[in-house]
Amino acid sequence: MRIETTIQGVHAALAPARAARKSIAFIPTMGNLHAGHLRLVQEARNRADVVVVSIFVNPTQFGVGEDFEAYPRTLEADSQLLFEAECDILFAPAVAQMYASLPQYTSVQVNEIANDLCGKNRPGHFTGVATVVTKLFNIVQPRMAFFGEKDFQQLAVIRHLARDLCFPIEVVGVPTVRAADGLALSSRNGYLNELERRQAPALYATLQTISAALLAGQRDYAALEQHATEHLNGLGFVTDYVAIRTPWLALSDNTTTEWVVLAAAKLGKTRLIDNISVRLPLDVNSSASQPVNA
Ligand code: PAJ
Repeated sequence: MRIETTIQGVHAALAPARAARKSIAFIPTMGNLHAGHLRLVQEARNRADVVVVSIFVNPTQFGVGEDFEAYPRTLEADSQLLFEAECDILFAPAVAQMYASLPQYTSVQVNEIANDLCGKNRPGHFTGVATVVTKLFNIVQPRMAFFGEKDFQQLAVIRHLARDLCFPIEVVGVPTVRAADGLALSSRNGYLNELERRQAPALYATLQTISAALLAGQRDYAALEQHATEHLNGLGFVTDYVAIRTPWLALSDNTTTEWVVLAAAKLGKTRLIDNISVRLPLDVNSSASQPVNA
């Protein structure tokens, strides 16, 4: 595995693969790797000739008062895991390599869905994500890029961005990897204290309860969302949202059978997000209102 810290280094490392028309797969991360990240690497390894992973804690996607400084940086352990997972190239740039100056003159803004759900509570977050992913796509120029469904809204933002900006890149979504008790693996789980870690699986359990209610025929989405919010708050979470949406995050669409229930909630200082997909029969009488971005 080659470790590159500069854009030129990545170009040079990929030149032979490009000349030989090999397929390049890319997985952007912020490091502190766990089995969820490694699942993405595995999927990429199965599908492409060359696997590139980036580790970059991107300052522009963190808001004021968020955990940019505290975010775990574990490059040595991460490199070892990537070597074992047969990654070919690790790109681990410093901030100055990715951002010659901050703020930049140019940023990439994905309209509407970026200001909804997590974007409401984290203004500018998805612009930071979209901007850094655009830069990384331009640096690596992969044929396919892998993202986790755990960050469902992020995946939707990236799908829009790739299509709108004509990137010739297949965006592949990979199912969420969970701990045995259901908690979605996340680098931020390390912030939870022992008690919070025991409470945290309740987030996914609540999503499963909504999924079961939907499958049993309940269609009052607003009531399900409200009830779940109260339930989580009663358990000690501070719930940001519980939302039942289409996979492209519209509020309603009577032509789809695919739905996703998304939630974000704080437990102590830790913000947790999760989602669950549900397949329902076509329902022309859903109680939800206008689409956000159909
Ligand atoms: P990070 O949180 O490090 O996640 C990197 C990738 O791993 C994302 O696509 C995320 O959805 C995926 N991932 C995280 N936990 C997962 C799990 N339990 N199961 C499956 N996949 C999981 O997301 C980011 O970094 C950044 O926003 C980034 C896209 C790198 C831009 O800076």
